[in-house]
Amino acid sequence: MDTESVAKPVVVGVDGSECSLTAVDWAADEAKLRHRPLRIVHVFAWPLLYTPLGAPLLSSRLDDLMETARQIVHTAERRAQARAPEVDVESELIDGAPIPVLLEEAARASLAVIGSRGLGAVGALFLGSTGVELAARAACPVVAVRGREHKAQRIVVGVDGSDNSLMALWSGFEEAALRAAGLTAIHAIHHPADETDGDIADAVARLRERFPDIPTELTTVTAHPAEALISASADADLLVVGSRGRGGFRGLMLGSVSQTVLHNADCPVAVQRAGKAH
Ligand SMILES: Nc1ncnc2c1ncn2[C@@H]1O[C@H](COP(=O)(O)OP(=O)(O)OP(=O)(O)O)[C@@H](O)[C@H]1O
Ligand SMILES: [Mg+2]
Repeated sequence: MDTESVAKPVVVGVDGSECSLTAVDWAADEAKLRHRPLRIVHVFAWPLLYTPLGAPLLSSRLDDLMETARQIVHTAERRAQARAPEVDVESELIDGAPIPVLLEEAARASLAVIGSRGLGAVGALFLGSTGVELAARAACPVVAVRGREHKAQRIVVGVDGSDNSLMALWSGFEEAALRAAGLTAIHAIHHPADETDGDIADAVARLRERFPDIPTELTTVTAHPAEALISASADADLLVVGSRGRGGFRGLMLGSVSQTVLHNADCPVAVQRAGKAH
């Protein structure tokens, strides 16, 4: 870890939803565990100002919008302080478009945290498009806070032998060490191409030596990887995956397994990429 990254904050994006407040709780806990400051950001787009359509926006209406935005930040800040009083919390209301602003924030952060968004009608919780884009492109690891809070004392990592998944494995061990939790590495074999030549067992063995106090298991299952990981997420504090795996098409920033678990896991999901700052 370089000296610069020591002070890099955990950054959390808030939008006023209950989901984003749950993300604030998670980010505050994580900042406390990592001894990092917490930075809360609400990106405030001014859509009406930029459209030539319709009547000019009344300044009283603008004031209302601005006040709501300030309240969102204020509520999130109070929530973080109540959750983790020992963490340094700063917040900012930023005028701009969410994705570019959050990508800029992630470039200066040790970890970016976002909430999953509720899609009311069907009662299902899918990560919004901002979250998917951030997980795909951010310079730092991204955690989408979703599912139930389990306190299972178990971190689950999906490993397919790719560099990204080995980075996920390393970061899973670090998270397990921070929480005094156990670690389960899952290698799912669905196609013959999923079989690897022992790299995974070697990587787990090396990390076991590095983190001897962490109860560790490597489980190889015959199943679709996303299904195996989603099922394991029902009893995990955190599921860690790589942004890409061994297969896939060039150009896609997030593989299909990562995307599926981001939308369906029953616990927070961390997306790691080899070479990402940590
Ligand atoms: N067979 C698997 N077993 C366990 N975890 C897996 C498996 N396949 C993928 N993963 C997890 O998901 C991450 C992303 O891989 P994913 O399969 O989504 O991307 P990809 O292989 O690049 O694309 P795709 O498989 O969609 O063609 C991996 O880094 C790993 O953490
Ligand atoms: Mg794959």
